[in-house]
Amino acid sequence: MWAYSERVAAVSMDNPKVLISEDDIRRRVDELAAQISTDYGGKEPLVLVGVLKGSFIFLADLSRRLTIPRTIEFIAVSSYEEGSVHSGAVRLLMDVRGNIENKHVLIVEDIVDTGRTLHYLIGMLESHRPASVRTCALLHKAERAEVEVEIDYTGFSIADEWVVGYGLDYAEQNRTLPYIGVIQPDR
Ligand code: PRP
Repeated sequence: MWAYSERVAAVSMDNPKVLISEDDIRRRVDELAAQISTDYGGKEPLVLVGVLKGSFIFLADLSRRLTIPRTIEFIAVSSYEEGSVHSGAVRLLMDVRGNIENKHVLIVEDIVDTGRTLHYLIGMLESHRPASVRTCALLHKAERAEVEVEIDYTGFSIADEWVVGYGLDYAEQNRTLPYIGVIQPDR
């Protein structure tokens, strides 16, 4: 069995600086799950729509801590080129598989940066005529906002730094770090 520090070193060549610890993430996900369970009580079934790839760990943890009936869907979009350069456009790579008409939908994102992805997804999912569409993001970089978009459940507001871990990547690296770390890529 690897010690914790050896495991982190093994998955991260860069050893990102810890921004949000594993414990703090766990506590906040517990709080979000409790709030969502209360808010959606009586409105079941709730459909959680995870946005690939970045939300896969957050969605896995959040969904298992809800105390109300829920189903899981995934949607895939791409808004960034390789590395840290924004492509300017959101591309739909994969739509939800199940029928979400007349159901309550909660979009689950790892991070909202410019807001373009979430803005696009809300409109896209509303075209499926669900009962409601709301949003949940683990991280929010408010100072980077380019389009106005409402985030109904926010885990942490963070500054404009490049974050990795807990699903988030830099050039596909560091997604499986157990904490949110900060790196300094060449921009
Ligand atoms: C990230 C993140 C969000 C989006 C947010 O996805 O997961 O979906 O960017 O940015 P925005 O608010 O500026 O639109 P990314 O395109 O990096 O893909 P990934 O989730 O597959 O890593």
